[in-house]
Amino acid sequence: MATNEEKLDQLEQIRERLKLGGGEKRIETQHGKGKLTARERLNLLLDEGSFEEFDPLVLLAGTEYDPEKVQAEAVVTGWGTIEGRGCYVFSQDFTVVGGSLSQRMGEKCIKIMDLAMKNGVPVIGLNDGGGARIQEGVDSLASYGDIFLRNVLSSGVIPQISVILGPAAGGAVYSPALTDFIFMTQASYMYVTGPDVVKTVTGEVVTHEELGGAMTHATRSGVCHFAIEGEEACLQEVRRLFSFLPLNNMEEPPLMETGDDPARRDEELLHILPDDVGRPYDMREIVYRLVDAGDFLEVHEHFAQNMIVGFGRMEGRTIGIVGNQPLYNAGVLDIDASRKAARFVRFCDAFNIPIITLVDVPGYLPGTSQEYGGIISHGAKLVYAYAEATVPKITIIIRKATGGAYDAMGSKHLRADVNLAWPTAEIAVMGPDAAVNIIHRAELARAKDIDKARDEFVVDYKAKFANPYVAASRGFIDDVIDPRDTRPRIIRALNMLRSKSDQMPAKKHGNLPL
Ligand code: HXC
Repeated sequence: MATNEEKLDQLEQIRERLKLGGGEKRIETQHGKGKLTARERLNLLLDEGSFEEFDPLVLLAGTEYDPEKVQAEAVVTGWGTIEGRGCYVFSQDFTVVGGSLSQRMGEKCIKIMDLAMKNGVPVIGLNDGGGARIQEGVDSLASYGDIFLRNVLSSGVIPQISVILGPAAGGAVYSPALTDFIFMTQASYMYVTGPDVVKTVTGEVVTHEELGGAMTHATRSGVCHFAIEGEEACLQEVRRLFSFLPLNNMEEPPLMETGDDPARRDEELLHILPDDVGRPYDMREIVYRLVDAGDFLEVHEHFAQNMIVGFGRMEGRTIGIVGNQPLYNAGVLDIDASRKAARFVRFCDAFNIPIITLVDVPGYLPGTSQEYGGIISHGAKLVYAYAEATVPKITIIIRKATGGAYDAMGSKHLRADVNLAWPTAEIAVMGPDAAVNIIHRAELARAKDIDKARDEFVVDYKAKFANPYVAASRGFIDDVIDPRDTRPRIIRALNMLRSKSDQMPAKKHGNLPL
């Protein structure tokens, strides 16, 4: 009969064997591909020594308990902390059947997802797997469905973050797609069907990278929010994002001492805008100067670059920034920019993060590609997102706020709380040249010197409409401010709005124009 000590030794041996996942050789292969193991990744993601594993004794589907030959399932799950705040984690193990999803593996994931919901704590999933485990058939598909359901029920209750560190193919893409943020490294790819299937069905020849690599999804599809080279840097950036987020939708975002003076004026804000309104500038320059210590975490940096969204802090508290970017296509609103900003606004609203909107937008982008692509519905998403958001909303019109884009970008009419403008603001139905051509068509046709006449009409139009004072005279703008005071004015407004309470009318849910 085995002694207690022997039983304890056996437990340790089983644990050590299971920790090897698919075994040393496959770990070597994983390292050879420049990838870390599931456990190494968790060590980088979580505070040192904080990882508490769940179900470490679950065996690979189809294997029986044999102390000499136990093999683990293809996911490591558990709980840990990031800067002392809790999160639930799963980390797929590619060394075990290519990280493919079995029912047992799904059950492990579901267990921590349910605990995360009950405890109001975020879930971070590290993905590196070949999709549904083919040998398991419908059981694997059922597990995906079970995970998708949890993703949806958790949406808006706890933040969910997906990190793609290897393949995510087939069903494996839809759980990340249902979460709030997707990180990808250069060694990762995501697609519903791989290059071979694409070639068979459409005849297109495309590489894994071109079809579903990080930069493809970061720049073209918008599926990827953060494309980062190297697993270590990527997991570090996940920790940074986490530091901005509340643990759940009942919490305020975390407070972090930044040491930046809330009353800080900024002389440089007077010099960023060119005198010529037709010339671009980098809206990020303004953002960096407004947030605490210049610390701005840009989301979707490479996608729809005519719009900037991201997190910063003011007086140590997280805020969401949405800004037009005149550096790209004059900051015009198009399909992708509308989708990008609408999604971000809805995330902030779900998680009690005030929204600061910086406006310099010449309008919605005209053209057949936009109209055929559905700019009407996609542009409406932005209007919808701002209108339904009940968090504090502060909007600063920096320069142009033209046409429908004036309404869409956090206007007073969509329930913004504080609307300010710089003296450089131009708020009008359309740009001066287009407007003059329409409203003075007859006079221009009769004019002897058409250019001179047009110039005079433009000067007149600008004086009448392209300024902040008409809007301010109606109360649509609460005040026109000295640009140097922008940060203290926003911070004072945030303090004034700290006890804000607003809601949507009772309903099951609205019908966001998807
Ligand atoms: C079972 C799998 C597997 C899978 C990989 N493996 N994917 N086993 N089911 N889905 C196994 C391989 O057989 C191999 O086992 C080991 O994992 C490592 O895989 P390799 O192919 O050697 O690795 P690599 O060359 O790096 O290629 C990785 C890969 C490739 C690109 C992910 O394995 C692949 O294409 N897998 C299938 C991907 C796929 O089509 N998934 C969709 C499934 S359908 P051995 O023992 O030989 O080393 C789906 C629908 C769900 O997901 C829908 C839900 C809504």
